[in-house]
Amino acid sequence: MIDIHCHILPQLDDGADSFETSCAMAEMAIEGGITHIVGTPHSNNAYRFVPELIRQRRAELQGRFEGRLILATGCDFHMSFENLQDIQHDAARFTINQRNYLLVEFADYSIPPPMDQALHQLQLAGLHPIITHPERNPLIRSQPERLFQWLRQGCYAQITAQSFHGKWGQAAQERAEEWLAAGAVHFIASDAHNVTSRPLRLKETYELISKEHGEEVARALLVENPLAAFEGRPLSYVPEIGEERAKTNDGAAAGGWRKRFWPF
Ligand SMILES: [Fe+2]
Repeated sequence: MIDIHCHILPQLDDGADSFETSCAMAEMAIEGGITHIVGTPHSNNAYRFVPELIRQRRAELQGRFEGRLILATGCDFHMSFENLQDIQHDAARFTINQRNYLLVEFADYSIPPPMDQALHQLQLAGLHPIITHPERNPLIRSQPERLFQWLRQGCYAQITAQSFHGKWGQAAQERAEEWLAAGAVHFIASDAHNVTSRPLRLKETYELISKEHGEEVARALLVENPLAAFEGRPLSYVPEIGEERAKTNDGAAAGGWRKRFWPF
C-alpha cells in the first residue's frame, strides 16, 4: 500500500516527535504492508514549512530504511492566503513527490466563498487538489454539496483510514461510508502522527473496504490511486459521482435525510 498523507518526518510539526518515533512508525508501516510513504508536514499558522529541512529529514529516514520503504515528501497544505500566495512561486515544494497532486486542508471554522475560486486556480496551474479528510470537517459535513461540487470540477477526496473504524466519531464514520458508496472517495490515507493514538496502519482498513466493497475498490483507494498520485499519473479509479445525500444537521437528531440528485 501507498500512504500519501503521513506525519512521519521527525520534529517538523505535531507528528513524529523524534527520529526514533519516525523509525517506529516506519517499522509499523512495513509490517502492515506499506511500501511507499509521503511525509506531509503541516504548513499553517502553527508550523512553518521549510522545504530544505523537510528534504533533509526525509533523506535521513530514507537512509535508515533503504530497500525496505520508499519515502517522499509533500505537504499538508492548509488553504490559507499565505500558502496560496507561496504556491504560485513554486508548487513542487508542496506537492506529493514533487509531482502534480496536492493535499489541501480546509479550516474547521470557516471556508469563505473565495476558496472555491482558489481551488480552481490551483487546477488552472496544472495541479490536482486532493481534499483531505472532509469527513472530519464539520463545515463540509454540514454542506456536502460544496464538496461534491469541488469533486465535479475535478478535485479528489481523501478519507482518513481510522475514520472508517470510528476513531473520529460517528458523524465522520457515517460520512466516510456514505461518500465512498456515492463514488466520492478517491484515496484512503493514514494521516498518522505516531504509533499510538494516530498510528501508521492501513491494513485493517484495506480488509474492511475489501469486505464491504470488494477488493478492487480497496486496491484502487489504497494502492493504485495513491501510487498514481505518487508518480504523477492520471488516477485509474475515478467513479462517477452518483448522488449526494445531505443531512439537515450534523447530529443524529431530527431532520433525517434529504436526497438530492444532481444532473450530469
Ligand atoms: Fe495531516
